[in-house]
Amino acid sequence: MNTIGLCSDHAGFELKEAIRRALDARGLPYRDFGTYSSEACDYPDYAHVLAHAVETGEVYPGIALCGTGNGIAMTLNKHLGIRAALCWEAELATLARAHNDANVLVLPARFIGEEEMFAAIDRFLETPFEGGRHQRRIDKIR
Ligand code: RB5
Repeated sequence: MNTIGLCSDHAGFELKEAIRRALDARGLPYRDFGTYSSEACDYPDYAHVLAHAVETGEVYPGIALCGTGNGIAMTLNKHLGIRAALCWEAELATLARAHNDANVLVLPARFIGEEEMFAAIDRFLETPFEGGRHQRRIDKIR
């Protein structure tokens, strides 16, 4: 079973804790790359570490949170091996996997509730990449 990678800044910390509890309850393996409290911090410090772990195959997929999701998504997508998708509801998460083969789900912690968040996570974890024309488009990203 894949080990899921988690990271957030302070704005995403509480929801990351909720995700950890849910993964524990389901017996799903994960690695938490921080932050580890609600104390203010800088999202790139955690995003780069998660990105590296996804790129090396240590974890897959990643789930990342900051207040809006934008800062952490921008940082993650600086890495050539990362396709981080900002999603705030389940259908976006489905399409991020099916069409974009996203390997990190980014959640906007200050703009999403737990119910929507877990619906997006479930879809992200269960949806396969469709390949075909979408692979051709992904190959043109870089
Ligand atoms: C932190 O206040 C906030 O700037 C950060 O969580 C994120 O929203 C940045 O994109």
